[in-house]
Amino acid sequence: MASLIGEYDCKVDAKGRFMFPIDLRKQLEAVFEKGFVINRNLHQKCLVLYPMNEWEKLNKKLSKLNRLIKANDVFVRRFTGGATDVQADQSGRLLLPKALGDYADIKADLKVLGSNNVIELWDKKLYEDFLNQDVDIEQLAQDVLLQACIDYLNIQPNGVYVDLTFGGGGHSSHILKSLGEKGKLFAFDQDEDAQKNALKDPRFTLIPHNFRYLKNYLRVYGITKVNGILGDLGVSSHQFDDADRGFSLRFDAELDMRMNKKSELSAKTVLNAYTEEQLSKLFREYADLNQAYKLSKLIVKARAEKEIVTTSDLKTAIAPCIPRFEENKYLARVFQALRMEVNQEVEALKECLTQCVDVLDTNGRLVIISYHSIEDRLSKNIMRSGNVEGVEHKDLIYGRGTKVFKLLTSKPVVPGEEEIKINTRARSAKLRAAEKI
Ligand SMILES: C[S@@+](CC[C@H](N)C(=O)[O-])C[C@H]1O[C@@H](n2cnc3c(N)ncnc32)[C@H](O)[C@@H]1O
Repeated sequence: MASLIGEYDCKVDAKGRFMFPIDLRKQLEAVFEKGFVINRNLHQKCLVLYPMNEWEKLNKKLSKLNRLIKANDVFVRRFTGGATDVQADQSGRLLLPKALGDYADIKADLKVLGSNNVIELWDKKLYEDFLNQDVDIEQLAQDVLLQACIDYLNIQPNGVYVDLTFGGGGHSSHILKSLGEKGKLFAFDQDEDAQKNALKDPRFTLIPHNFRYLKNYLRVYGITKVNGILGDLGVSSHQFDDADRGFSLRFDAELDMRMNKKSELSAKTVLNAYTEEQLSKLFREYADLNQAYKLSKLIVKARAEKEIVTTSDLKTAIAPCIPRFEENKYLARVFQALRMEVNQEVEALKECLTQCVDVLDTNGRLVIISYHSIEDRLSKNIMRSGNVEGVEHKDLIYGRGTKVFKLLTSKPVVPGEEEIKINTRARSAKLRAAEKI
């Protein structure tokens, strides 16, 4: 089925029926006769009409989600809760189930619009208000696993919380919403651009530094213990979408990739100054590329002729290594490895997680979202054994393992289908959470 398009005004009659727009019906062709499932939209006050075949496809995907994971279970229940099947009558009218119509506040004037493979139904006035809203799409796309983070942080209204990775402030602003008047939130970000997003709230303090100095900077504010720490690691979409920062392979920009613009090491320096062995090691460790050796050789050969300065210089230099049809995937891994080296991400995370153990108060929560297997392993280690190496310490008398944390997630929580649809960055996200004993 081609993407459904068009906006149509319809009237809802006294029995709650509306005439399905002829033009939209033509776009649906034979599928129309099979009927629809009508459901709530979880993000907006509107309804979604799924042609039956689309609903079946979605259901198949939903049935693959592991419902032992709380976030998946809650999502499926909320998503499928109100779903009802509807069929057009002989005159081509569809009946809006009353409960769903009430949910979306649909009155007599209805807006029906094609939206990819589904149809949205809005109260006309609410739809107009929605269009006039000042929506920050980037901000929406940042809030990876937002509800799960807030749930796992188990925010105490008067507690002290830390957001290690402020970025666009999406997670921070939701933490503030759950905090009471006496609560406090300290947020770190080493990128000076993040200061533009600082939240104007007396309970909020932005610490514009690397989270590897967590303990020291908290001490500056007289804080020695906190009730919860959240980290949403990696790069923000603000950084990614700014061509000049050199994080993205979408732009032909200078290879920079520094989150802290004052730091000396850039991707350009790594590519032109590291030895072949150093390059090979970083590509093997961070990008898990079995051709790391060949890749480094090509870089060293290319830079002997001309310094590697831009994204396209790098792409040209390593072209013989890039698998056909998998260009973007391969390059994304090369870029990620460079970024991790430039920002010393693994070292910073190790230092920070180690300090989290001391900084968290008893019953304090640690919630980490990671996007790379090394980050995920470090988070798992700290939560399971209290150290980033994952070494279990036994108590001297009974030889039992001494635990620092109670695990709240035995397996990492991953985003639901809906979230991945609006935010491709969420695809590789893994959330782990634990409570300090
Ligand atoms: C994925 S984004 C966070 C997005 C944020 N959760 C939101 O809702 O907008 C990661 C942010 O953490 C920052 N960051 C990454 N590593 C850091 C570190 N070691 N110290 C301080 N900030 C860091 C980056 O500059 C980036 O802005």
